[in-house]
Amino acid sequence: MRFDQSALQEIHARVDIAAFIGEYVPLKKRGNDFVGLCPFHNEKTPSFHVHPDRGFFKCFGCGTAGDVITFVQKREGIPFGDAVRALAHRAGVQLEPETPQAARMRGERETIFEANRLAAAFFARTLTDAAGAKARAYLAQRGLSETTIARFGLGYAPQSWDALVGELQRNAIDLRLAAKAGLVKPKESGGFYDFYRDRLMIPTLAPTGEVIAFGGRALGEAEPKYLNTATTPVYTKGRHLFALNVARRAAQREGAFIVVEGYLDCIALHQAGFENAVASLGTSFTQEQAAELRKYADHVFVCFDGDAAGNAAATKAVDIASKTLEHAGSSVRVVLLPPGADPDSYVREYGSQGFRALLDAAKPAIEFRLDPEIDRLRDGFSSPAVIARNAEELIHSMTPREEWDRWRVYVAGRLKVNADDLRNSRFLTNRANFSPRSDVTGSRHVPVRSTAAGAVEPLSFEREVISIVLEEPGIVREFATRIRPSSFRNEQYRKVYQQIVQHAHELATTADVMALFGEDPAAMMVVAAEGSRDRSSTTRFGGTDERCAHLERIAERLEHEETEARYRELRRRIDEAFTAGEPISDELRKESEMLVSKLKNVRV
Ligand code: UTP
Ligand code: MN
Repeated sequence: MRFDQSALQEIHARVDIAAFIGEYVPLKKRGNDFVGLCPFHNEKTPSFHVHPDRGFFKCFGCGTAGDVITFVQKREGIPFGDAVRALAHRAGVQLEPETPQAARMRGERETIFEANRLAAAFFARTLTDAAGAKARAYLAQRGLSETTIARFGLGYAPQSWDALVGELQRNAIDLRLAAKAGLVKPKESGGFYDFYRDRLMIPTLAPTGEVIAFGGRALGEAEPKYLNTATTPVYTKGRHLFALNVARRAAQREGAFIVVEGYLDCIALHQAGFENAVASLGTSFTQEQAAELRKYADHVFVCFDGDAAGNAAATKAVDIASKTLEHAGSSVRVVLLPPGADPDSYVREYGSQGFRALLDAAKPAIEFRLDPEIDRLRDGFSSPAVIARNAEELIHSMTPREEWDRWRVYVAGRLKVNADDLRNSRFLTNRANFSPRSDVTGSRHVPVRSTAAGAVEPLSFEREVISIVLEEPGIVREFATRIRPSSFRNEQYRKVYQQIVQHAHELATTADVMALFGEDPAAMMVVAAEGSRDRSSTTRFGGTDERCAHLERIAERLEHEETEARYRELRRRIDEAFTAGEPISDELRKESEMLVSKLKNVRV
């Protein structure tokens, strides 16, 4: 498509480039120029310049430069011709006279835009006709207001095989191109028939205002529920977003979009005041869509249905969105609806405030992805090492480097371990490290911080064992095979315990233990911390019997845990064999049965 040079000049003369770009990018005046953050790459200090006198922009960071037409092209990702038309429309520049002859001469894309525009107007008109009564009743029943209906240009495709065909013919539209637009279908006998019949019609507009696609919803139970425009020369499924044309202003203002799945979810949210809502339309959210949103806002709320399918879709969506959107200063958050609800039903039931509360409680995408991983530990479906590895991968792929540590601390906190240990694979493979026990000795512990790098705080059972054996070192002989040094995760505590076990036969009193560690400052710290925090330690655990009872409980718990770990391991192997279609050996079966009964009989 070639444009008259005078039309292009007219556009440049009428469109104030600084004001125009200023609608997309906050600009500050600097001398004769305007400066802002470049919309074409990520930056923290402004290197994007607009020169109104000369009518062009340039980014000194990424090198993108051009005039206002280039800006629209790049910003909206549309061809030159579309950018010119959009600007001409906005500036009131007539590009060419509207005659049927001119219409025939227009390129394919333009005819399709025109056909879509005519169709949308026709559907909207029909909605107000007698024929549209049923559709109006449907909209009323769904609680949509006149304002909303007008704002989204909703319409009705009548119960007819040729109503739209006639309308397009009256407007000299080549029906073969209308078929390419997905509006009509060729008949076997020649000619064309209406594709959408007796459906509520929802047009999708490009940000530049052209109608690019339709969704047609059945008014009753007809299948399919929605008929959508397939890929056409002007519409690619997965690239566009429904309502972006109306949502982008609000999104720019608020710095965030809300992404939902359904047309009517999106419309209902707008009506409830969430004008930054867009819909991904049946497809899973794509990287292209994420990139599109990124042009206008840094933050995205992904809001999907609260069922398993919604959860799976949300998982996919955040993985996609995070790739494009997660960098310093931006975020993807997940709004989880209760099972059975969709955004439309939720906002209708709980109102704007209810939905606002959901947004406020939205989980960061990384948290949404990490939580189920971490839960696998509790459920026994995964080992700490695997979880830590998966968590680390998720953190790397979904968050900017500056946030990695923060999320490691989050994972560590939920696994109840020290963040540094998450990098230590030997630590991770020891399941005993992941079951901190309730602290029977109260909250008066002074945690011992080892000087060694990568040290972890001792578990409460480790402290308990040390303080008991400090009171009565000889007692350790009875438990050494059941409470093994290898169960200790804190290195210092493990060493101290190991020494006490080794020298048990020569240790009778606390003083003997002190003497044993006289030359070892690290060990002395442990002894001092566990021995000195309670001066009345001799009465702390009562007599020998009570000390033994305590150690007995600890031993039982460690054993139980080992049994559990062993059982999980067996179950994993059984599952593996099962999936591989291999027979499950008798030994495996017997051992696992034995472990099950053992687990059942132990009270923990
Ligand atoms: P839903 O089945 O969740 O429908 O599909 P919905 O949006 O809640 O619609 P209502 O409230 O029943 O009217 C979500 C989205 O998936 C696409 C549509 O984009 C729909 O909005 N979809 C669904 C289809 O494209 N075709 C279908 O047959 C169904
Ligand atoms: Mn719905």
